[in-house]
Amino acid sequence: MSRAVLALLVGSAMSTSLMDLAQAQPPVVHATLNQLMRGTFYPASNVFFAAQDLNPADVPHAKDPSMATDPLTSTFGKWEAVENSALAISELADLLMRPGQKCSNGVDVPVGNADWAKFVQGLRDAGMTAWAAARTKDQDKILDAAGVMTTACANCHRKYREKRNPADRCK
Ligand code: HEC
Repeated sequence: MSRAVLALLVGSAMSTSLMDLAQAQPPVVHATLNQLMRGTFYPASNVFFAAQDLNPADVPHAKDPSMATDPLTSTFGKWEAVENSALAISELADLLMRPGQKCSNGVDVPVGNADWAKFVQGLRDAGMTAWAAARTKDQDKILDAAGVMTTACANCHRKYREKRNPADRCK
């Protein structure tokens, strides 16, 4: 058998098994929505929001920047940290659309609801607006983008988080 044919055969066998695998295993989601919010969107947006009051260029590096717990003072700090946090918010928004994710009260994250998808898209867009603002290094632009970000978070929270009874969250 020629090498080319063999490569073809092996290639197609591999892609078939990868497809089987993808179909057999639904994505495993370990974090509740609350944990995801606290672990990702909350810290990332705080880095972005910080640039409203302080000029990231003036934030000194930590004593050991490679171990810094504040991204602004880290090796990848200052304006770069603001840019990367904005990008992270936009990219991580995809995680909010995974089937199988639960809210802290055990209710499924309502990924099938049209308004949920709209709020998630709002977050992606806000992340992009934030990124564009961070790239200008202009704090007036950051102020505007922070308003967009706050609105994107609040739109969804108003509908799905702010409930008198926590059991009603995500419904
Ligand atoms: C698409 C909807 C949606 C968007 C957009 C969203 N959140 Fe959330 N968030 C929720 C829901 C729903 C909860 C409650 C989850 C639960 O109880 O499991 C929550 C919970 C949280 C919590 C935990 C609150 C607590 O009391 O423990 C924080 C912090 C948070 N969000 C921050 C943010 C920030 C900051 C943004 C914007 C950058 C944001 N969220 C955008 C839906 C959203």
